[in-house]
Amino acid sequence: MSRRIWASVDGYIVEAEADPALDAVLAANHDHGLPPIDVSPAQGKLLSLLARMQGAKKVLEIGTLGGYSTIWMARALPVDGKVVTLELDPHHASVARSNFERAGVSDRVELRVGPALQSLAALGAENAGPFDFIFIDADKPNNQHYLSWAMRLSRPGTVIVCDNVIRDGAVVNEDGRDANVEGARAAFSFIGSDKRLQGTAIQTVGAKGYDGFAIAIVS
Ligand code: SAH
Ligand code: DHB
Ligand code: MG
Repeated sequence: MSRRIWASVDGYIVEAEADPALDAVLAANHDHGLPPIDVSPAQGKLLSLLARMQGAKKVLEIGTLGGYSTIWMARALPVDGKVVTLELDPHHASVARSNFERAGVSDRVELRVGPALQSLAALGAENAGPFDFIFIDADKPNNQHYLSWAMRLSRPGTVIVCDNVIRDGAVVNEDGRDANVEGARAAFSFIGSDKRLQGTAIQTVGAKGYDGFAIAIVS
């Protein structure tokens, strides 16, 4: 099994649903030099379905990039729903803002620029929670802090999804000292040790290679 067939099957999974607006987001990201590390189209659809299954109205995203995943989740919300998305890099944020305009979701998205740990502290101070659905997809070494904030901004029933927790299987290679892989392990150990969380992970192959999402629910 090779990466080529994973990508080809990923294309097949989404081909029945052409989505020019989301394709335009990826094109704009590319034109503005953003790294191609957005979730895949099939993963974006999964996030959108999970948010709908959850009946989410308030979504928190940590790590916006060009807003590709943000738009998938924003589309899953009722008209009075909102995504708060956090991004460190002002250039990424400005590309994301124009993508939100073009995709017609600006009224449902609030983008906060700065280190996510600061934005999370501000959200906590403002009593901005609880969020119904939280997607963690920023700098992996901070995963445990992001999960800790996610708990503080959650309610019983909140669903938390954390991206990139498999990393080509490196998560089980204890010798690896890669900070991103340590971040993946931190997600598992956090979910495994907090009694309020029930979670698992799904391994994914596809256009983005071999990786996975951790998924947990707060009780
Ligand atoms: N969720 C996006 C991809 C996010 S990529 C999608 O699927 O479309 C990770 C993003 O996290 C990058 O844009 C990076 O700039 C941002 N990031 C990295 N460190 C951060 C930090 N400390 N605070 C907030 N965002 C950060
Ligand atoms: C990479 C992929 C991601 O989804 C991400 O959030 C960060 C980095 C990568 O493939 O390098
Ligand atoms: Mg990611």
